[in-house]
Amino acid sequence: MKYIELNEIDSTNAYLSERLLSGEITEPTTVFTHSQNKGKGMGQNIWVSDNDKNALFSIALFTEIKTEEIFKVSLATSMAIYEFLKLKGITTKIKWPNDIYYDGKKLGGILIENKLDGNVVKSSVIGVGLNLNQEKFPKWLPNPISLKNITGQDYDAKEFITGISEMVEKKLNEIKDVPFVDLRLDYLLNLYCFGKIMMWKIQGIKDEISGSIVDVKPSGKIVVQAVSGQLCECDIKEIKLIDDF
Ligand code: BTN
Repeated sequence: MKYIELNEIDSTNAYLSERLLSGEITEPTTVFTHSQNKGKGMGQNIWVSDNDKNALFSIALFTEIKTEEIFKVSLATSMAIYEFLKLKGITTKIKWPNDIYYDGKKLGGILIENKLDGNVVKSSVIGVGLNLNQEKFPKWLPNPISLKNITGQDYDAKEFITGISEMVEKKLNEIKDVPFVDLRLDYLLNLYCFGKIMMWKIQGIKDEISGSIVDVKPSGKIVVQAVSGQLCECDIKEIKLIDDF
């Protein structure tokens, strides 16, 4: 893994995506920064972080994955972060599809941008924002938490960035040829709210339903079974967990 350290940048994801497109980056590379002034979150969200407090990085990988199993990129990333944090004594949950949660609060977020060629993912930019040493967050952020909030300790961002980057690369290589059915249970067991009956708002269904997560598909779709027995298969835009911030 090659590492690029930047003092300040708009977004580490944008930085890598542009250089992948221009052909400047052709091998596994992690870019990390001390300050990000236009951090991208999932959907229309932004990612905010105080300077020099948190881990802000993106990993470019060239592991080829069949597009029908595109969720392997996400699964490898969230599981690698889960395992890295576990080694540090912090047991987290993964909030589908790939938020890192602790005690119902968001400790980290992941933004994956894949480049496809036909039915193969040719490269992935895996952006990770992990709250390490920031103690106070803007009021408008729904439910943030940092490792410092949890343990009172300070953490070395570089150690997290290199450790997680290596583990993500290794994990994706390990699982790329493993049938998805053999991976899903490990992931499901680490999911926030797995097996619990929760309230959901599902696109196309008028009322909120109560139901529980029962499966995840290789595409990344989640399967929620309503208490009525009905199975709903949804992507990220089609479902929302109620009671969630
Ligand atoms: C989310 O919305 O939960 C995903 C957040 C991802 C944020 C990280 S910070 C480093 C990298 N660069 C970005 O612009 N975004 C990701």
